[in-house]
Amino acid sequence: MTLDLEMPARRKPEVSGARSPASGSLPPCPVIRTPRLTLRPHALSDAEAITASLCDFGVARMLLRVPQPYHLGDAREWLETEANAGTAWNAAITETDDVHIGVVSIEKLRNGWHLGYWLNRQAWGRGIMSEAAWALIAAFFQQRPDGTVLSGVFADNTASLKVQAKLGFAISGIADVYVPARGATVNRIETRLTRDAFASAA
Ligand SMILES: CC(C)(COP(=O)(O)OP(=O)(O)OC[C@H]1O[C@@H](n2cnc3c(N)ncnc32)[C@H](O)[C@@H]1OP(=O)(O)O)[C@@H](O)C(=O)NCCC(=O)NCCS
Repeated sequence: MTLDLEMPARRKPEVSGARSPASGSLPPCPVIRTPRLTLRPHALSDAEAITASLCDFGVARMLLRVPQPYHLGDAREWLETEANAGTAWNAAITETDDVHIGVVSIEKLRNGWHLGYWLNRQAWGRGIMSEAAWALIAAFFQQRPDGTVLSGVFADNTASLKVQAKLGFAISGIADVYVPARGATVNRIETRLTRDAFASAA
């Protein structure tokens, strides 16, 4: 399947496995290839790598639903129940060696489609999340051209705000949210992305 969005050639992802969805849902998480990455559905064998990444407080403190400490059982439970659930694309981010280095997801929540992501600390600072999130959103808009993608970033997460600004997200509000990993309430900047804004930002 070839995406029909205007995009720079070096970032054009190849998408396979995404069939037409029933109304209001997504097809199973596709495999998406970008110049440096493969985004793929999760496997139970990803549990150790996920645990190693999310044990890192520097990663978990920026996430809304990740407890600290984080155990192998938490990863296994997520993999068994949610990772490949029909209401979400939870894509494992891998490089050429198929080792799990992060997650980028789009899931349907009560008020719409939400983007979330994290990356193992060793992989930060190489533009990986900009590439991964861009590819997943491009595939999402191919399935849901009229969709809007919602997200949110804690106010002290400059790197994530930069990732979203580059993708074309706009700020839509600010909310106080409780963050279990920090045991504290944090300011969260709420954001949204339309297909037009995404196409303009590419
Ligand atoms: C946020 C996160 C996904 C970014 O991943 P990444 O692959 O390092 O991001 P990229 O390299 O694609 O882009 C990061 C941008 O932020 C910039 N940046 C990184 N750290 C920064 C900092 N502390 N202050 C300011 N800018 C920073 C980078 O220079 C880059 O900008 P550029 O493209 O203009 O050069 C990663 O840091 C992470 O997983 N953090 C923990 C979990 C998390 O925050 N998830 C998102 C929750 S909303």
